[in-house]
Amino acid sequence: MRTNQSPTLPDFLYGTAWKEDRTPALVELALGMGFRGIDTANQRRHYFEAGVGQGLAAAYRAEIVTHGDLFLQTKFTYRPGQDHRLPYDPAASLTVQVAQSMASSLEHLETDYVDSYVLHGPASGYGWTDADAEVWEAMRKERDARRTRLLGVSNVSLEHLEQMAAADPEPPTFVQNRCYARFGWDREVRLFCRERKIIYQGFSLLTANPEILHHPLVMGLATRANATPAQIVFSFARTIGMLPLTGTSSAEHMKQDLASTNLVLEPDAVQAIESLFG
Ligand SMILES: NC(=O)c1ccc[n+]([C@@H]2O[C@H](COP(=O)([O-])OP(=O)(O)OC[C@H]3O[C@@H](n4cnc5c(N)ncnc54)[C@H](OP(=O)(O)O)[C@@H]3O)[C@@H](O)[C@H]2O)c1
Repeated sequence: MRTNQSPTLPDFLYGTAWKEDRTPALVELALGMGFRGIDTANQRRHYFEAGVGQGLAAAYRAEIVTHGDLFLQTKFTYRPGQDHRLPYDPAASLTVQVAQSMASSLEHLETDYVDSYVLHGPASGYGWTDADAEVWEAMRKERDARRTRLLGVSNVSLEHLEQMAAADPEPPTFVQNRCYARFGWDREVRLFCRERKIIYQGFSLLTANPEILHHPLVMGLATRANATPAQIVFSFARTIGMLPLTGTSSAEHMKQDLASTNLVLEPDAVQAIESLFG
């Protein structure tokens, strides 16, 4: 069981989606390469959370990390985002579903608390609903019971965040969103987060933005820094205040992604990348 105080926020989160049977080995590899933040979800459709727990256990046994070295984040996912492998009783109230999903996550991850618990996505794409308010209240109860230190929301629009803020003065600690360069790298949501000291976690930084990776500006910056375009994107993301995620399955890319934390971009390069496509 994980009993130590959790560490400060890592520079990178290692994402565990879509890895299926390779999940335990890739989690152990990522920790061996130096990642200290793990992102998962109790959503068997896209994540093998119990496999994350197996990878963590292997890393503890191999003395790669201790429990207290890690930042662990998982998510509650509504029924429509799940397949038949549910971590809760779908007939139960949302409040009970959150409690059951959290209990199952803690069992999968072999811990008695996580560092961050995230609502995977609001119930509706069009606003913050009563269902979201109920789930958020249940998540707060999990936090108050110390089964998570912090709370977050994912896949949210500015409208969701504004309505959430109107309903509840306490902001989430994290927003986790897919980050498209063509929408100014989610500019509106990032600004909202910056004003309220919410930490913005960006995912799909590479896969959502192939036009950036092939852009002459980014390729030129990469050549001059003796880096890869992917490293430029991660360095840029961090410089504008994001906590980036990577879900790479390659040891070489893990090394490169972590090494991007040492890259320094000039302010004019950052501004140029930020306004390339929107
Ligand atoms: N909240 C949500 O709804 C949500 C949705 C999606 C994802 N996520 C989280 O975010 C994590 C990351 O997902 P993602 O969408 O960003 O995609 P991803 O799974 O990280 O995929 C990134 C792609 O970029 C490649 N890549 C990584 N590092 C690279 C490098 N240095 N150079 C070249 N290619 C590189 C990877 O290929 P290789 O494997 O060959 O390196 C992979 O094809 C997920 O695992 C999950 O934890 C959350």
